[in-house]
Amino acid sequence: MDPKKVDAVVLVGGKGTRLRPLTLSAPKPMLPTAGLAFMTHLLARIAAAGIEHVILGTSYKAAVFEAEFGDGSKLGLQIEYVFEEEALGTGGGIANVAPKLRHDTAIIFNGDVLSGADLGELLNHHASHQADVTLHLVRVSDPRAFGCVPTDGDNRVLAFLEKTQDPPTDQINAGCYVFNREIIDRIPRDREVSVEREVFPTLLSDGLKVCGYVDTSYWRDMGTPEDFVRGSSDLVRGIAPSPALTKPRGEFLVHDGASVAPGALLIGGTVVGRGAEIGPGVRLDGAVIFDGAHIEAGATVERSIIGFGARIGPRALIRDGVIGDGADIGARCELLRGARVWPGVKVPDLGIRYSSDI
Ligand code: GTP
Repeated sequence: MDPKKVDAVVLVGGKGTRLRPLTLSAPKPMLPTAGLAFMTHLLARIAAAGIEHVILGTSYKAAVFEAEFGDGSKLGLQIEYVFEEEALGTGGGIANVAPKLRHDTAIIFNGDVLSGADLGELLNHHASHQADVTLHLVRVSDPRAFGCVPTDGDNRVLAFLEKTQDPPTDQINAGCYVFNREIIDRIPRDREVSVEREVFPTLLSDGLKVCGYVDTSYWRDMGTPEDFVRGSSDLVRGIAPSPALTKPRGEFLVHDGASVAPGALLIGGTVVGRGAEIGPGVRLDGAVIFDGAHIEAGATVERSIIGFGARIGPRALIRDGVIGDGADIGARCELLRGARVWPGVKVPDLGIRYSSDI
């Protein structure tokens, strides 16, 4: 299938509640991952597949997207924006962009999925099977955490199953779909609709041809802090593909204007943002340090995200935590096991906290 005759639609209107407090100031698809707004990786992938026209379905913090990507020409794309005053859900968001579609086929992306699927193959699979809708299904080692999607020998989807401890297949919905234009026109307009819970089951019961394109490519939904940290680290280390990253990959990535003192240890796919300062004796393991953050002497940050301009005091320990923008963590504090600190909060020296929101 000619990718120039396909519209790409990216759903970016969600509030990203599971990634709060980082998503209080920026929408999830714009959070920096491996030093670039997450969407940049996805848009670069769309451009590399030869697709030219992209529509972003926005709602929460919509203006940020247009400010960053404009008309898309820097990425070799033509980007348009469709705004939802009230978020319409993943299905409603697809229906809402219909007036901007230029072609008979659209490829829809959740804006928070990091994936290495071959988009050209997915489109060809859709065309050769003469499907109404084709879902990218990815095989995962532990499908119990996901709803799963069994298919028959002809790749037709048989059911959309809820999470279970004993899934009958390891194929899960990877959050990327090819739709024929007339199927998009069947989605109810102007009300909230979930593509996963409402549109797909209805298409099956209406007897439409819903196919699965199954692969084992890299795949991660970046919706939780754990996945966000892993995805960022995988990008830095080259485990996750991204045409937007041109530098050689390695154990860490330090962006322009950041300073790292001698004796600091950076491992595990750590990324240090622009203007950040890393003090002597600091240990960063799988850390995502946003622009302008300061990590002071002897502090340790493991598998955690440190927001824009936050400060981590001397010899503090942050493990599996999320520190909001501008928060100030005092010397020797220990924040462990899912602790989240809200933007601007000041935790005094020796303020020991475990697993709680502050
Ligand atoms: P959580 O609140 O943490 O569940 O995150 P989320 O709001 O982003 O929801 P979810 O992860 O289920 O969304 C998957 C993708 O769809 C994300 O890229 C969202 O931005 C997008 N999305 C979710 N809801 C809407 C919506 O109502 N409209 C549009 N346009 N996009 C949406």
